[in-house]
Formats: sequence, C-alpha cells, structure tokens
Amino acid sequence: MVYRKKSVSVIGLGYIGLPTAALLASKGYMVKGMDINEHAVETINKGEIHILEPDLDAYVRSAVANGKLKAYSEVQAGDIYIICVPTPFHIDSELPKPNVDYVSEAAESISPHVKGGDIVILESTSPVGTTEMVRDVLQKNGVDTSAIFVAYCPERVLPGKIMSELVDNARVIGGINSQSTEIVAAFYRTFVNGEILETEAKTAEMCKLTENSFRDVNIAFANELSVLCDSNGVDVWELIKLANHHPRVNILQPGTGVGGHCIAVDPWFIVSQDLENSRIIKTAREINDSKPDWVVDKIKATADSMSTKKVVCLGLAFKPDIDDLRESPAVRVVESLVEQGYDVSCVEPNINEHKKYNLIDIKKAIAQFDVIALLVKHKEFTSNMILPELESKGTLDFCGTFSK
Ligand SMILES: NC(=O)c1ccc[n+]([C@@H]2O[C@H](COP(=O)([O-])OP(=O)(O)OC[C@H]3O[C@@H](n4cnc5c(N)ncnc54)[C@H](O)[C@@H]3O)[C@@H](O)[C@H]2O)c1
Repeated sequence: MVYRKKSVSVIGLGYIGLPTAALLASKGYMVKGMDINEHAVETINKGEIHILEPDLDAYVRSAVANGKLKAYSEVQAGDIYIICVPTPFHIDSELPKPNVDYVSEAAESISPHVKGGDIVILESTSPVGTTEMVRDVLQKNGVDTSAIFVAYCPERVLPGKIMSELVDNARVIGGINSQSTEIVAAFYRTFVNGEILETEAKTAEMCKLTENSFRDVNIAFANELSVLCDSNGVDVWELIKLANHHPRVNILQPGTGVGGHCIAVDPWFIVSQDLENSRIIKTAREINDSKPDWVVDKIKATADSMSTKKVVCLGLAFKPDIDDLRESPAVRVVESLVEQGYDVSCVEPNINEHKKYNLIDIKKAIAQFDVIALLVKHKEFTSNMILPELESKGTLDFCGTFSK
C-alpha cells in the first residue's frame, strides 16, 4: 500500500487531533480535518491555531499554505479516518462513568463516507471495548466492516512537547483483527520514529488506562505517606529521597493532589467497568482526590491560629509551569477556602487575569500576607530571589519546595 497517496480525515481538531493532522500534512498526506467547533475550523483555515502548543503554529501555517490541510464543519471523505474526540466522564452518576457519546457520534458521522479498504482509527482515551463499539456503529450504519480496517491507537503525548512526542514516542496499535493491526501499524510507521508495538484492540485500550492508573496509584502512595509523615513530624520529601536510595525503590512525589484531564480521569474508566476488582485503583483515586481537603484543613488551622481569614495561595495550575486549570487540586483548595468564608488571593504566574480568582503578584503576596500556602511548584516560586523570603515567612509548603 502506498500510504502517502492516501487522504486522511481527522475527526476532532483539539490538542490531539490538530497536531496529528498538521504532522500528517507535513509528511505529505492530504489532510481534511473536521470539528463541530466553528471557531476552530475558521481559525485553522486562516493558518492559525485555537489552542496553545509549542511549534504547532508553524506546522499549521505551513500545512494550510501548502494546501495539505483544510478544516471543515462536516466530515469529508478520506481513505483513513482518525477519531480524536473528547472522552470525559459523566459527572451526574455516583461513580464517575466514561462518556463515549462523542466517539459514537464521530463514528456515526463518518459512516456515510467509509468504503471498502478504508482505515478507521480511534485515538481517544477509551474504556475497554470502545473500538469494537466503533466497528458496531459503522456496521449498524451500513458499512461492510469485514472490508475495512479498524484499530485503536492511544495517544501518550505530553502537552508542551506534543509535536516531538507524536513522532518519537512508542505507539501501541490494537486492531479488531490481526489484519487491521498490521495495516494500521504500517500507516503509523510512515510518520512515527518510535517503536510500533502490535497487539489487539482491548489490550491497547487497557494499556492506555493502565499507564495513567500506574501514575495515579504511585502518586497516591506518596500522598498517603505525606499525611502519615506529617502526623509523625517526619519530612516526607527527605524520607522519599532516602528511601529511593534503595536500588529497587522509586517513590514518586506527593503534592496538593492529582489533576489534569488524564491521570485524574482515566483510572475511573477501569473502575467503572469492574468496581469489585479495582480496589487499589479506586482507593488511589480517592486518596488523591481527598488530598486537597487535607491541605485545606492545614491552611485553615494556621489561619485560625493567627486569627485571620486572609490567605494567599501560590499556584492554581494542575502541575508546575503550565496554565492548565483542568481538574486542578490547587483550584479545589482555593474554592473550598472561599466557600468556608476565607478571603483568598492567588499567585499564578502562568495566567495574566482570571474572572473568578483575585490574582496578585508574588512580591505583594509575600509583603501583605501572613498565611501563604505553596500549592504548585512553579519555577517563579523556587528562584533564589523568592525562595528564602517564602521560607522566612513560614510558608506552608505542600510541594517539597523547601526540602533540603
Ligand atoms: N490532550 C492530551 O494531552 C491527551 C493526551 C492523551 C490522550 N488524550 C485523549 O485524546 C482525546 C482528545 O483529547 P483532546 O485533548 O484533543 O480534546 P480537545 O477537547 O482538545 O479536542 C477535542 C475536539 O473534538 C471536537 N469534537 C467533539 N465532538 C466532535 C464530533 N462529534 N465531531 C467532530 N469533532 C468533535 C471538539 O470540538 C474539540 O475541538 C481524549 O480522549 C483525551 O483523553 C489527550
């Protein structure tokens, strides 16, 4: 099969779909992207980007100028379809449950165009069985699925490094049958330098969920240690440093909690499918989800002992040196303090202004507040200029910033 003569239709042009579309265009594919977000479609067709990601702007500008990438509001026929739509969870249920409605809608929308010999790839993080669901949706909508190739290929990119990781990361390809795996793996080999690992669909789906659950469970262990150490008067960061000198021990770092749209979400996809047998994964989620409450109690105790309601929180993002607030434990800390009547200001060097949060700069925070809580280890808080001042003010440190 001569792949580069094939046209690729990418469904969903967000953080995953747009970089994938632009990269494929740079490799010579004719790419037709589709999104239900009109603003995204218009912006891309101007050669611009509607999301922030280093280097993406140059890829999109050049792909659009060369006529290799065009965005549409309706699905366009192609030879290869890549589905990159969101897979959030239903928040109305007691136990968070994956919402695969967007995937199912995307599969339905490509159905009228899919012909014999075409490839359909699901890249969205999905519960086990979703790739087979995609095949079933296509079949129900009149596609002869015995004549096409369907596979799952999870994304492992790190925001901030997406353009290089799309090419360099190893990829797992799981087809609904061995021929689908083989054909889709050959397609990825045309633009990925990382290893291409072949398996079947359910294993590939579980692999992505396992990777994020592994991180969550291990961070939960560190977070549990941080609480145990606090009540024993032990510095958890020193403890972890010492324990990690054991040749077979590698404990991760505790913090304010776990956030973002992957690690804090994907383990629920496993739990929701087999509650009884996912005890560690569920408990880890609960430990990480409850850490912000523990942090809030610590801040309140300090503020109450000083008879003040004024608190400043350093960091709002879900991890250091980014501006992303999705599922951020620091945001949960701030909101809980506000709900409980505290007067909270925030320092978030990665965001200029915010409708909801009273943002101030770090110098003002140090000068004007007695209760300072360090929630995210942004580089601006760890500089030689700022760190000693924060330490001398008795800053409550939830990220090991002052640990020697
Ligand atoms: N962003 C990451 O770092 C990352 C990493 C690994 C995996 N993932 C997974 O990749 C998937 C996509 O994530 P994302 O970050 O790109 O999401 P995103 O929200 O940035 O983009 C998704 C896009 O899909 C569009 N969309 C929704 N329904 C659609 C439909 N029916 N047809 C066409 N377009 C539709 C939305 O308008 C949006 O632009 C998710 O499953 C996510 O968990 C994301």
